[in-house]
Amino acid sequence: MALPQQFMDELRRRVSLSSVIGKRVKLIARGNRLIGLCPFHQEKTPSFHVRDDDGYYHCFGCGVSGDAISFLREQESMSFMDAINHLAGMAGMTVPEQQKLSPEEREQRNSMAHMLEAAAQFFEQSLQKDSGLHAKSYLEKRQVSLSSQTRYRIGYAPASGLLPHLERLGYKPEDIVAAGLARRSTRDQSLYDNFRNRLMFPIKNPRGEVIAFGGRALGEDQEPKYLNSADSPMFHKKLVLYGLKEARERIKDGLPVIVSEGYMDAIAIDQYQVAGAVAPLGTALTEEQMALIWKSTDAPFLCFDGDAAGQRAAARTLLRLLPVLEPGKTVRVMRLPTGQDPDDLLKSGGGDALRQIMDASESFADALWHTTSMDYDLSKAEQKAKFWQVMRDHIRQINNPAMRDSLGDDIRARIRAMRGQEQPNLSGGKIIGKRHAQSTENLRPSIIMAILLHQPELIHDVHEDLVRLDIKDRLAKKMLNIIADSVTITDHLDESTFRHHLMLAGVNEEDLTSLMDKIKTRIRFDPSQLSLEDAKVRLTELISLEIRGLRSRAVSSMRS
Ligand code: UTP
Ligand code: MN
Repeated sequence: MALPQQFMDELRRRVSLSSVIGKRVKLIARGNRLIGLCPFHQEKTPSFHVRDDDGYYHCFGCGVSGDAISFLREQESMSFMDAINHLAGMAGMTVPEQQKLSPEEREQRNSMAHMLEAAAQFFEQSLQKDSGLHAKSYLEKRQVSLSSQTRYRIGYAPASGLLPHLERLGYKPEDIVAAGLARRSTRDQSLYDNFRNRLMFPIKNPRGEVIAFGGRALGEDQEPKYLNSADSPMFHKKLVLYGLKEARERIKDGLPVIVSEGYMDAIAIDQYQVAGAVAPLGTALTEEQMALIWKSTDAPFLCFDGDAAGQRAAARTLLRLLPVLEPGKTVRVMRLPTGQDPDDLLKSGGGDALRQIMDASESFADALWHTTSMDYDLSKAEQKAKFWQVMRDHIRQINNPAMRDSLGDDIRARIRAMRGQEQPNLSGGKIIGKRHAQSTENLRPSIIMAILLHQPELIHDVHEDLVRLDIKDRLAKKMLNIIADSVTITDHLDESTFRHHLMLAGVNEEDLTSLMDKIKTRIRFDPSQLSLEDAKVRLTELISLEIRGLRSRAVSSMRS
């Protein structure tokens, strides 16, 4: 169930994270955060940090992070809705209910459901009559088996006949129009069938009720090729998947699921028993449709044409999925031979051809990486930097903190590997020699702060990660505290304000100059000379190295 964003924002504003976690973990204030013993792993010294300002917790010992909802789900074993109700109770708010149907609306819905069922039966019967012969032979030509025809309740809409049939059953013309089965002529207000001389695919909800139709043209220049029912009180095409009921049956048999583009693809995939199959209804796959599939299976396959346009469509779909990724829920991405849909592939190569493509499918991270990289010439330094930046921006779109962390780590590792291939000595800044690696690592927090001193506008992009750093260096630590305060209090920090706050904290110009000199002599770049773009790339890289360094230290100290 989707809750309004406004409600979620208000809920976050009203219930502090520490009041939720404080019931289970003893928290003590430390600067602008609270710390305590991590409830997710055994420890003797506190490394579990809770921030009320952004509503996230993070453990530097075991690496978990999340928000109030994930805390309640994981620590109190609540469902998502239980967690929401619990938090709403703490906030004194009422959870918006999904609108219930009034008795009249319920009556109207039932009547429409009966009418659509009657229409489906009419189409099924018409397919078996003489007038349906050419539709029947079309199905034969496309090798749709008799059992598929029955399973999917495929039918035929003759040029006319449905309207008088439904009127005879007692349905009123305006209700038939409302159900999308008839139209009124703008010329003389007369009624006519919406679907004429078409092969009919009933669209069902998961309970098996017919809620709409898709009709494929059978005539030579009949337009459009596929005609779908318009949205109605029973049918919202962006919330429905063709074939979901049948696909769930296949899942019970242990088969995976493929999300294909068309009706005929879904039916063919099912018929070859390679997988269950669903298809969106003439639109791009929506988040809601993805949520429906994820209810039944953890890693459905998406398939896209192998040509550039198809791969671009894949990129768009993956980007749309970023905000809704949840732990354990992902997709695999199939790349079809150029110009072939699953139906074509099955006809030419049988089930094995499609299975091979499934075996060669990419993980979400692989596919996101490769489809995003298509837009950049990676032999050019600045385009490569841009690509890395775009990938990092993608990761920020992930709402689930655990998923953002794990995919973020994956992507950062790829970027590092790519850099490592070209400059094996690179560790944050350009290091002159390998023996400097150790000292550069110690210098890392100072370099981060030096970059931010010159480009304070970047603080906003990185502060979430910054405040997770555990910095030892005295000067860098002071700088970090000023940054953390500025983000929560003033929300704006320019270079002179930054320097002013440093003065107040007892840092003088000389301290800063010697810091800069130290950096300049150890590594071959001057933080004050970086362009904004370069500074951003460098900074994100350094912070991720620092966070990784922290984790590995935490892990090794746990082992010892
Ligand atoms: P395609 O045009 O790719 O055709 O439409 P297809 O699925 O391969 O169909 P066949 O094999 O020629 O029968 C893919 C899907 O796009 C939607 C339909 O849902 C269709 O299944 N579509 C296509 C429309 O909604 N309207 C159209 O005019 C065409
Ligand atoms: Mn096709």
